[in-house]
Amino acid sequence: MEQDEPGEALTELRERRLGALELLQAAVGSGLAAYAVWALLLQPGFRRVPLRLQVPYVGASERQVDHVLSLLRGRPGKMVDLGSGDGRIVLAAHRCGLRPAVGYELNPWLVGLARLHAWRAGCAGSVCYRREDLWKVNLRDCHNLSVFLAPSVLPLLEDKLQAELPQGARVVSGRYPLPTWQPVAVMGEGVDRVWAYDVRSGGLAGQASPGPSSASVPGAPNSQGG
Ligand SMILES: C[S@@+](CC[C@H](N)C(=O)[O-])C[C@H]1O[C@@H](n2cnc3c(N)ncnc32)[C@H](O)[C@@H]1O
Repeated sequence: MEQDEPGEALTELRERRLGALELLQAAVGSGLAAYAVWALLLQPGFRRVPLRLQVPYVGASERQVDHVLSLLRGRPGKMVDLGSGDGRIVLAAHRCGLRPAVGYELNPWLVGLARLHAWRAGCAGSVCYRREDLWKVNLRDCHNLSVFLAPSVLPLLEDKLQAELPQGARVVSGRYPLPTWQPVAVMGEGVDRVWAYDVRSGGLAGQASPGPSSASVPGAPNSQGG
């Protein structure tokens, strides 16, 4: 019995090592799988975008989409979703009468998916999804804008919107508010919350005034320095 003890201990040690090795292999394997998904499905198109401007795909919730549309419904002019993902906001906007409705998205898989959804909904020729870098899109003719982007890029986005959007344009930001603009309306709670902003005068965005279809925000000033 005693003679077996070193042998048993050795076997146990080997088994433990094997267990640890298997765990390590599993960890490396799932890390590689996650990297492959990221590189093949999420990363395409983003190689030329600086890391600090890269925003991952997260689809808007159903309520979030409803709130965006409540704040845009009935408004005339072009509607754009910057970073349109699988196209759900653009498709819903088209369905509620916003024309034309256009989505700009850098990830080609998501552009393809958005087109597939539009085709399945019978709107293939009516909505438009373009594979473009949102930072390079000119928004001069855009009167209704939806964004759902990471908080880290919103200060830069404010500058772009301020420089390009026409007077009377409305911006609806999902989940995260624009950092310095004053909203004219807020809808929803938590992750479903959206904020609306109106561009009031002189082509300068960020000057808020209550729009015709928005519930004004208690305590929000009517305008701010732009
Ligand atoms: C949080 S998701 C929102 C998707 C969609 N708007 C929605 O609400 O369901 C942000 C999207 O922006 C896209 N995106 C990020 N940076 C972009 C860029 N520079 N140009 C175009 N699209 C971009 C991402 O690929 C992602 O699909």
